[in-house]
Amino acid sequence: MLNIDKLIIGFDNALRTLLAPANTLRPVPGKDLPENELSEIEKRESAALMRINHVGEVCAQALYQGQALTARNDRVRQALDQAAREETEHLAWTERRIAELGGRKSFLNPLWYGGSFTLGLVAGVLGDKWNLGFLAETERQVEAHLASHLQQLPHQDIRSRAIVTQMKVDEACHATMAVSHGGGRLPAPVKVAMKFSSTIMTRTAYWV
Ligand SMILES: [Fe+2]
Ligand SMILES: [Fe+2]
Repeated sequence: MLNIDKLIIGFDNALRTLLAPANTLRPVPGKDLPENELSEIEKRESAALMRINHVGEVCAQALYQGQALTARNDRVRQALDQAAREETEHLAWTERRIAELGGRKSFLNPLWYGGSFTLGLVAGVLGDKWNLGFLAETERQVEAHLASHLQQLPHQDIRSRAIVTQMKVDEACHATMAVSHGGGRLPAPVKVAMKFSSTIMTRTAYWV
């Protein structure tokens, strides 16, 4: 059931995601690796890719918040909360890396957050089977997307690569968690629609 406390917590989380620096309990992956020299073009490319990944993590925060608000079962809510904490760490890692590369975050983050939060609420309302199924599919698509970034990131940018590599491992665990808690398989047209909307998001976030 939605109640006023949960709504206030949700609103607080939204403001923190969008306005405050994120915290991480785990050390930032690759923090002890050397900062290899990158050309200006390579630096811009890395920063743009990390901006896309940061947007993905803003969306993950919003999705998990929306889903946790409407999840019906306490066990599911706890699993969502645990994964959401790791997503906050991803947010912190990508944010720091963007700053190191002299890049900037997306101007459209409030928009990405709002859209993903609504999607999360809707998925939660559909019941835990679809809620978790949607989550598992999202995580699988994110994992594939991160694999493609490992191909695209400049080879010598080992600090960004270490972050993306650990995120990829975590997203795979989130997908497994969602399935093990009873996530159903989504119909193929829904998967295609999800892929289509994430393509629009990633192409836009590359620039803005
Ligand atoms: Fe993540
Ligand atoms: Fe995840």
